[in-house]
Amino acid sequence: MTGSLTTHILAARYLRDDENSFTDVCRRVADAIGETQREKETFFSEMHSLRFLPNSPTLMNAGTENGQLAACFTLPIGDSLPTIFDALKWGALIHQSGGGTGYNFSKIRPKASPVRELDGMASGPVSFMQIFNQATEIIRQGGRRRGANMGILNADHPDILTFIHAKEREGDLANFNISVMVTDAFMACIRDGKQDSVWTTHPATGDEVTVGDIWDAITGGIWKNGEPGVLFYNEINHHNPTPLLGEIDAVNPCGEQPLLPFESCVLGSVNLTRFVKEDHIDEVGLKQTTGIAVRMLDRIIDKNTYPLSRIETATKRTRKVGLGVMGVHDTLLMLGIPYDSAKGRVLCGHVMECITTAAVETSHVIAVESDSFPAWDNSRWNKCPMRNAALTCIAPTGSISLLADCSPGIEPVYSYAYTRRHTAGSSFAMLHPLFAQDLATAARDRFSSQPEVDQEINAVISHLRRTGTVQDINWLPASFRRLYKTATDISWKDHIRMQAVFQPRVHAAISKTINMPHSATDDDIAAAILFAWGSNLKGITCYRTGSRREVVYAIGEET
Ligand code: CDP
Repeated sequence: MTGSLTTHILAARYLRDDENSFTDVCRRVADAIGETQREKETFFSEMHSLRFLPNSPTLMNAGTENGQLAACFTLPIGDSLPTIFDALKWGALIHQSGGGTGYNFSKIRPKASPVRELDGMASGPVSFMQIFNQATEIIRQGGRRRGANMGILNADHPDILTFIHAKEREGDLANFNISVMVTDAFMACIRDGKQDSVWTTHPATGDEVTVGDIWDAITGGIWKNGEPGVLFYNEINHHNPTPLLGEIDAVNPCGEQPLLPFESCVLGSVNLTRFVKEDHIDEVGLKQTTGIAVRMLDRIIDKNTYPLSRIETATKRTRKVGLGVMGVHDTLLMLGIPYDSAKGRVLCGHVMECITTAAVETSHVIAVESDSFPAWDNSRWNKCPMRNAALTCIAPTGSISLLADCSPGIEPVYSYAYTRRHTAGSSFAMLHPLFAQDLATAARDRFSSQPEVDQEINAVISHLRRTGTVQDINWLPASFRRLYKTATDISWKDHIRMQAVFQPRVHAAISKTINMPHSATDDDIAAAILFAWGSNLKGITCYRTGSRREVVYAIGEET
């Protein structure tokens, strides 16, 4: 049935009026981006074989009137109406073109501060976020997919508690992911039990907010419905490749790209499943695809139509690209290695190291052939010519992994049999092919008659559809259950461990959800954030099973 979901996604999002197939899409994209005939053929072959796919805006817009090819943008917002409404306008243009925007609202003065011109009171960052949310709501109606925003507030902003509670009611600020930016000093207070320290004081009212107030609101909010996310300011800026161009205070909507104001970034992901050769990964092939992918992403920077000249200038100054992987869990399944195992983590670390090293080598070669990125002199790379200030990250690959028919990004499979609802009321019954195959083998080994085998297989699948897990089916061999764990079977610590294996091996950041059981407490959530901070992550997103009504995957729904 997966085939029909792929076909549905292809038709709903990627095919232009005159196109009939994925081949047509790949041809259009390759022709628009490749410089020479040879390059066009190489790009075509990488996409068509599903070894590599660029982000959705490239697949949708390359070679069309809307030539906007990047997924990620961040825009600055100051403490004045012109800067706020400029950002609103620019954000609308970005969404219209298929990109997502991240904003840090911390420069906006807190609610109830004096506003000199009007002799009145400021309404604060959260009320302005409502306008951004509404604008996204309206614009999304015209586009092929919904626009996405990341709203960030620094923990020391006096409106921080209002901000953290802003999405408490389901449906509010629905077009935003929200994240609190915290410093090491803040996290050290938590670690050291200094919850009573005053972290911020309202300049006009004198109201004080303590570390504990903020922390409890964060963990309570996550417990309630998975937000806010937490961003680690120091870790992000410690790895800023161009610190002399300024500090990084914002990330794109799903968090994988910390960017400077006005920067944009085009993403692309290698489909790791295509490199499984019997019992190992074909590293030669992986490096070759990585090299081609970097050349393609770098070309896109020049071929792109930018929504704003300031975005073009900022982007071309550092030429950041975001190459990542998808199909990681499927790859581990193909190799028979559990996601939450030391062996799995070692393999993943090795693979990402291989990709980033090959990406850096290619970027160096392009720099020698043409030029380094313009801000290179003053960058952390200034000992070795480089074309791109940052090359790797891990994107969610929410749509392109469906096209490639593999598990998304570095996430574990959510369920091996489930119903997937999609736009326009259609739904698809999904059954993971490897799971189905191994289940059939296990059933044949255990039961003697064919009717019994069939009956037990059907019982497992319907149990899985109902509950989302096979961990409690006792006749299944322990090794089968060990391998076929889902995102919710895997412990939060092992989720974070996997993110921590990838983080030092990518230049930018990682989009990943840390699944927690329904029974998780505020204390578990606090422990997870501290563990993430201690593991040198740049940010963390947690989700407690069943805490939100709106979920993409519908476990327990009959087809
Ligand atoms: O798979 P696809 O290329 O469509 O995108 P993704 O990897 O799921 O998301 C990558 C980035 O695209 C996100 O972090 C957002 O910046 C942006 N995005 C968006 O703006 N709107 C969406 N509906 C989905 C993604």
